[in-house]
Amino acid sequence: MYWNFGDIIRGPLDAKFSRRDGELSVEIGFGNGEHLAHLARTRPDSLVVGIEVSRWCVTKAARRALSLGLENIRLIYGDARFLLARMFEPSSVSRICMNFPCPWPKKRHSARRVARPEFAGLIAFCLARDGEFTLATDVEWYAEETREIFAETADFETGRIIVNGERDYATKYERKWQAMGRDIYTVTARRTGPETNDARNGEEPDGLGPIDAPACPHGLRERVTPLAGEILKGHGYVVIFRDVFFSGAGDALVTAISVDEGFEQHYHIKLMPTRNGVRCALDTIGRPYITPGVRASVRYTVRRIAGELQEKP
Ligand SMILES: C[S@@+](CC[C@H](N)C(=O)[O-])C[C@H]1O[C@@H](n2cnc3c(N)ncnc32)[C@H](O)[C@@H]1O
Repeated sequence: MYWNFGDIIRGPLDAKFSRRDGELSVEIGFGNGEHLAHLARTRPDSLVVGIEVSRWCVTKAARRALSLGLENIRLIYGDARFLLARMFEPSSVSRICMNFPCPWPKKRHSARRVARPEFAGLIAFCLARDGEFTLATDVEWYAEETREIFAETADFETGRIIVNGERDYATKYERKWQAMGRDIYTVTARRTGPETNDARNGEEPDGLGPIDAPACPHGLRERVTPLAGEILKGHGYVVIFRDVFFSGAGDALVTAISVDEGFEQHYHIKLMPTRNGVRCALDTIGRPYITPGVRASVRYTVRRIAGELQEKP
């Protein structure tokens, strides 16, 4: 059978949803896509958007949606923490749900939790007035922490935690935890404050345009070759510069891997000599999301070209 995934899987940088798309429902971390399909079936007039960080899950859910003939599903591969403010117009979403996310119990991994104060801000940005956020989890402290985070955000009215309440659909993980006799906790927060008009909620714009570095007196090769193998660490991110390739025409390509709070991306930075210096830009192939790590890596490359950094010993 031929699967036309193009109809359903949308590129995260090109996908933009607004009220013009009709009523919007969003599921974060949809796994095998069962619940997403349930939402699409029971809300035929709603556009159901799923965001999932596992490519395998995106493919599986796309097959499910196509085989069920559900045309009101769109799937985005990527990390909700970085995508929510980019993909949705402010105050455009009616409901957002998250079923059984990993609680990342270790303290050193806590930044990877989706339910964090900055996340509540993102949800507030996306939800329309009276829109609802729902979290289902088998981890009691995670439910409590999430409820507290939303209760402390002025824009939400938070109900009490429901234990083993009636749910509209039992997901794969839900069935698994229920079979093990675990309790299921549901947290609901309703958006109450004034709607957000401020596009992007004060975040920096998506793009990271080219940055010009000064010319290298002894050539680009001498300045950027030492980048290969360097590791750049910052608040919440690590970037590994893997290699530097030079073309016969004098251009160079830096390959890099960034990890922002556990979110890994592979990408290239292009270096193009110009009349007055060197232009540094993200390569359009494998275009990454502009996370703090990606942004820092381009700026670091510019500084290396400018000779502002100490050479490696
Ligand atoms: C434990 S599974 C639950 C799957 C499904 N919701 C269920 O209940 O059966 C958690 C899912 O969230 C996804 N996930 C984790 N962090 C994410 C993030 N930051 N953005 C989007 N998806 C994420 C994982 O890839 C995984 O599929």
